[in-house]
Amino acid sequence: MPRRRRAATAFSVAPAEAGSPAYRWLSSALRAQILEGRIHPGARLPSTRELARQYGYSRGTIVAAFEALRAEGYVAGSVGSGTYVNPVLPDELLHAPRAPRAAAAPMQKPVRALSGFARRVRPFPAGVVTPARAFRSNVPALDLFPVATWAQVAGRCFRRVTRRQLNDGDALGYLPLREALSEYLTTARGVRCTPAQVMVVAGVQEALDLSARVSLDRGDRVCLENPGYVGARHAFGASGAKIVALDVDTEGARLPQRTRDARLVYMTPAHQFPLGVSMSLTRRLAWLDWAHRGGALILEDDYDSEFRFVGRPLPALQGLDRHGVVLFTGSFGKMLFPSLRLGYLVLPPDLVDVFAAAKSVSSRHVPVPDQAVLCDFIRDGHFGRHVRRMRQIYAERRGVLLTDAQQYLRGLLEITGAEAGLQTAGWLQRGLNGEAVARAAGERDIEVIPLSRFGNGARREGLQLGFAAVETDAIHRGVRTLASILEELARDTQ
Ligand SMILES: Cc1ncc(COP(=O)(O)O)c(C=O)c1O
Repeated sequence: MPRRRRAATAFSVAPAEAGSPAYRWLSSALRAQILEGRIHPGARLPSTRELARQYGYSRGTIVAAFEALRAEGYVAGSVGSGTYVNPVLPDELLHAPRAPRAAAAPMQKPVRALSGFARRVRPFPAGVVTPARAFRSNVPALDLFPVATWAQVAGRCFRRVTRRQLNDGDALGYLPLREALSEYLTTARGVRCTPAQVMVVAGVQEALDLSARVSLDRGDRVCLENPGYVGARHAFGASGAKIVALDVDTEGARLPQRTRDARLVYMTPAHQFPLGVSMSLTRRLAWLDWAHRGGALILEDDYDSEFRFVGRPLPALQGLDRHGVVLFTGSFGKMLFPSLRLGYLVLPPDLVDVFAAAKSVSSRHVPVPDQAVLCDFIRDGHFGRHVRRMRQIYAERRGVLLTDAQQYLRGLLEITGAEAGLQTAGWLQRGLNGEAVARAAGERDIEVIPLSRFGNGARREGLQLGFAAVETDAIHRGVRTLASILEELARDTQ
């Protein structure tokens, strides 16, 4: 039966941009209008002749635009019988979100039966992505990352990619990378391991999540440093475990006074986050003994100890472990760049299989091509060179911060824990309040983090100040600005 011709749907599109072929401009403008619902499924489009006249193009251009839409499945029909918008659009099949046709009626909040985990889980605080200013914390100097070298290594890896690498990977990670990591961690960090114990993870955060899932049931106790790392509080909080707060003193995290039955302890012995204390040998041995006797595991987060500026790097706690109680984790987020999302987790031999199983049922494994690039970047010596170069630059920036702080911040902020890492902490003097300082600093284009945001265990008001990502000129200016803010606030509080 001949189809009854419907009236053509009128539409107008914005003028074409210079430099883009006219047919491509028209096809993408029509596609957008179809997807936004302004031209409905089933609607007939004006004829190619009409459109050619309306927009001043040749019919061939309009036919080419329609052909492109036909090939993508947005329209059907042919020259002569009319061109119609397909009743089922390709993006609908692909479940792509489309703008509503008309203002949607307000939806009632659906009743959902979600898990306890879903009720407890909180999003990881989003990172700041604007260019670094004084005193941005927790980020490396990304402007100094050797992007061209990384691109060269990545290009070579992809040119030589094997079918095996494109196929599927091992839950523990790409073996050549695990071998390189085992060698590096043994020599640089004093870790005792073989490649069979090394798992490649998507950053420390995944190591925290896996450790929580493997070692904790709801209601079990997990000990966390207070003040401590927010990412750990989020991961363990979501697990439903009971969090036991550990005080931190000049020797590092203190053993809990009463709790004897914790299943897991998370700590940052090389450079306590955020106070910067290095754990003493006596305290390390006491923790290992405590964990061994109580059947607990220690998760050692070695997040930034590659950047040590005073004395020799402290070997990992894991290297002292004779009973297989330590899980050791670290990340390339600070040594290379945060969006890489690659890190490692070194496991006691008897826990390798269960961790591999836990990983295999979530993300299966970390993408193999990314692991292959990192592996070559390490094997070719670029990683070692980059870390050495950054250590020098960070040492210089740290030196500027400490010298200027001596001169301008004395009596206002007492810097502490600047022996390693990308940032330091300072204790506020003269009754100054960290939140008030952070607010005033934000108004003067500098940033500081009050230590109170990392927990209430500091018992004193303080600030975290980053230096690694900040150029020396900006540190000089930032210290002077901070000094005037602190002076003004101190005057007001008296
Ligand atoms: C204490 C601590 N651990 C680990 C990390 C890195 O975690 P990820 O590898 O998940 O980025 C950070 C980053 O700021 C940190 O501060």
